Formats: sequence, C-alpha cells, structure tokens
Amino acid sequence: MRRHSQYEKAHFQAITCVDIGLNQSTGEFYNWARWLYPLVEPFLSSTRHRLVATVNERFPGSLLEIGVGTGGHLSDYLATHVTGVDVSPGMIQMASRQKSSLGCEVDIKVMDGESLQFGDAAFDRVVMTYVLSVTAHPERMLAEAWRVLKPGGFAFILNHETRASPHGWVSRVRRWLRLRSQFRFADIPGWPASSVIHRESCLPGGWFTFVILQK
Ligand SMILES: C[S@@+](CC[C@H](N)C(=O)[O-])C[C@H]1O[C@@H](n2cnc3c(N)ncnc32)[C@H](O)[C@@H]1O
Repeated sequence: MRRHSQYEKAHFQAITCVDIGLNQSTGEFYNWARWLYPLVEPFLSSTRHRLVATVNERFPGSLLEIGVGTGGHLSDYLATHVTGVDVSPGMIQMASRQKSSLGCEVDIKVMDGESLQFGDAAFDRVVMTYVLSVTAHPERMLAEAWRVLKPGGFAFILNHETRASPHGWVSRVRRWLRLRSQFRFADIPGWPASSVIHRESCLPGGWFTFVILQK
C-alpha cells in the first residue's frame, strides 16, 4: 500500500473515512491513476458539458455525485447542497480543491458508493459518471443510488457501453484501467429499465451512453 505524506495524513484524517470494503484496491489504483486525468480530459469535456447542463435543468435541490473523481463537474453544478463521494482518498484530495469555487454548501468524503452512509430519500439528484463500470458490484451501487434518491428524483448516468472487444490489446488496456471490457447498463442485475426517461449516445460511434432515470 502506498505511504502517504504528512500533509495527506492530516488531510485524510479530516475526511470521514467509512466502510471502503471490497473496493479498497480500486481506490488505491485511482490514488495513483489521478495523474491521467488532465491527459484524457480534452476528450471528455464536450460530453461533460452536456451532462452538467442537463443535470442543472433539474435545479433546485440537493445533489450527490458518486465516484466524484477529481471533482471536474463540481464548480459547474447548480444545487442548494452538493455532496461528492469517492473510494479513493487521492481523488477526494483533488476534488476538495474545487470546494471554494462552489456557491453552495459542499461535502466531499471518502466513501464506498456500494455502501452509502446516507439515509433513504436524502437527495434530489444523483450523478454517476464512468463509475458503474469500475466498481466491483455495479448492481449494489445502483441500488444504493436508488435508495438515497427521493421519490420523483433523478439519476444521471454516463458511461461507456461496449461489447467484448475483438482486439486482445484493447481488452488488456481496459483491464489495466480497471474498466470492464464488456459493459452494458442492461446487463446490470436489477437495471430499472422502466425508469429510464432519457437515453442518448454520445461521441462518434456512440461509445458513451447518457441515461436519465426517474425514481
Ligand atoms: C473512471 S473514474 C471517473 C471519475 C469521475 N466520475 C469522472 O467522471 O471524471 C472512476 C472513479 O470512481 C471511483 N470509484 C470506483 N469504485 C467506487 C466505489 N465503489 N465507490 C466510490 N467511488 C468509486 C474511483 O476511485 C474513481 O475516482
């Protein structure tokens, strides 16, 4: 396990560390992989703008982002209260730097999205981008997102959807990045297909899919 600097230790102690459970190794991987983000960001930015604009159409209310990563969306959200959780302390450290640029209350915590420490029906909106395909049990994360969502609330999910790649090297790169090489929302056990109110393909080839669910 990576050794943390004194600064990181002090910072992480200030963060609520809760049940990281089975996703701990994913968190450790993303502690390291956060340096990749500035490199891939230019390819993701147009899709991100589309997502945030759509999330903001459902303002006002509280918002939870699961797998908040470096916090790239945080400063653009319209919300009365924003909560961001991630299993990687390194990512949370980066996301916390966005806090001061938000015009509302913000809470950024290390937390496993498969075991959320929030009460039922606590949020008006839940956002999950590129996280269902990397978490150990996407069905548990989805069930937790659904539990903490208020009746009538919205879940915004953006992720790649891919069939198994015919090219071995693509699968190897995806595995290295902890991405499932084969991932489709409909394959998640308990996927609430009847709650999908919007679905669109993003980027050429429709590699990314954006869906909105209403509880
Ligand atoms: C591919 S990155 C995407 C980050 C961010 N959502 C974005 O769009 O840039 C996946 C993120 O999900 C986090 N993650 C993976 N499994 C998780 C879990 N079970 N609970 C919370 N965060 C998780 C990782 O630590 C990482 O920051």
